[in-house]
Amino acid sequence: MKIIIGCDHAGYSMKEKVKTHLHERGIEVEDVGTHSEESVDYTDYGIKVARKVSDGTFERGILICGTGLGMSMVANRFRGVRAALANDLFSAIMSRRHNNSNILVMGGRLIGDVLALQLVDAWIETPFDGGRHQRRVEKMDID
Ligand code: RB5
Repeated sequence: MKIIIGCDHAGYSMKEKVKTHLHERGIEVEDVGTHSEESVDYTDYGIKVARKVSDGTFERGILICGTGLGMSMVANRFRGVRAALANDLFSAIMSRRHNNSNILVMGGRLIGDVLALQLVDAWIETPFDGGRHQRRVEKMDID
C-alpha cells in the first residue's frame, strides 16, 4: 500500500510522526507538505491529497489539521473521496467497515500522537465489509 499524506501547520508535528510510523511499517508515503509549523491554508494541502485519491493515483490518503474539520470538508468535495474525520478508534474502524473510507482525517490539536498512530494502524488494517454497504457507498457519488 502507498499512502499520500498532507497537513497544515497545526498538523505538522503529528504528520511527521505518522510518516515515520508508516515507514517503519514498510508502507511507502508521498508527503505533499506542509513541511513546517509556519502558518498555511489547510485547503491547499487537502486539495493536493484529495485530488490524487479522487483520480486514482493513490488508493488511500491521510490528512491532519487542527481539528480535522477543514480538511474533511475540502476533501469530501472531490468525487470518489470518502474522507472520514476520526479522532476515536471506533470511528476509524467503522469508517473502513461501513463507509470504505479512503482518506483518514485527524485533528492534531484534539488527540495525542499515541492515539493517532493507533487510529492509523486500525484504519489501514480494517477491511471494508461490502455487501449492503457497497450499495450505500455507491449512492454517495451524486452528479
Ligand atoms: C488552523 O488554525 C486551523 O483552522 C486548521 O488547522 C483547522 O483546524 C481547520 O479546520
